[in-house]
Amino acid sequence: MKILISAGPTREKIDPVRYISNRSSGKMGYALAEAAVKSGASVTLVSGPVSLTPPSGLALLISVESAAEMTDAIRKEAESSDVIIMCAAVADYRPVMAAEQKLKKKGERLILELEPTEDILAGLGGRKKSTQILVGFAAETEKLLEHAEDKLKRKNLDWIIANDVSRSESGFESDKNQAVILGRNGAKTVIPLQSKKEMAETIISVVCGKNNGGK
Ligand code: C5P
Repeated sequence: MKILISAGPTREKIDPVRYISNRSSGKMGYALAEAAVKSGASVTLVSGPVSLTPPSGLALLISVESAAEMTDAIRKEAESSDVIIMCAAVADYRPVMAAEQKLKKKGERLILELEPTEDILAGLGGRKKSTQILVGFAAETEKLLEHAEDKLKRKNLDWIIANDVSRSESGFESDKNQAVILGRNGAKTVIPLQSKKEMAETIISVVCGKNNGGK
C-alpha cells in the first residue's frame, strides 16, 4: 500500500525576507508518517518548513515551501497513491505579488493584496479514483463537527479528522491532540486527549482499514 502524507505549514512570500505562514509545527503529519511506515506501507511525505527530523524508513521525502510547490508535489505523487492524508496547514491565501526587493518602512499604511491558493484536497476529491482513500483535517475554532461534516462532503473525502484548535492543551504546536474521526458513511470515532503519536496510530488503522468511510 502506498500512503501519501502532507505535513507542516506553507510559507507565502511577501518579499525576500518576509512571508505569511501559520502555527503548524508538522508534529501531527510526521507522527502519521511514522505510524504509516510502522504499518508496513510505502510512505511519501511532502513537508512544508518544519524543525523536525523525518521518520526513518520513508520511501520519499519532498520538502516544499509554498502552497504552489506543495500542490505540484502532491499532484505528482497522488496518482500512484492508495491513501492520501492531507494533514498540512496549507495557506488559503498568498500575496498577489512578492516584491523583488525588501519592502522599505514608510510610516504609512501598507496594503497587502492576497489571492486564494488552490485547494489541493478539494482538487484531489474532484478526480479521486474509486479505489483511493482521501483523508482531510479540519482545524476549527468553533462549530467543529458542523464545519468538519461540511468539508467532508464539499471536498469529496472518505474521512475527516476534526480537531478543536482553540484549546491550549491540544492542536497547533502541542505534543498532544484530541479529535473526532468522521467517515463519509457516518462512522464516528472520538479520540480523547492523547499524544500525537498515539493518535496517529489510531488514524492510520481507521483510514487504512477495510471499513472504507465507515460503511
Ligand atoms: O477548508 P480548509 O482549508 O479548512 O480544509 C482543511 C483541509 O484542506 C486540510 O486537510 C488541508 O490540508 C486541506 N487544504 C488543502 N489546500 C488548501 C487548504 C487546505 O489541501 N489550499
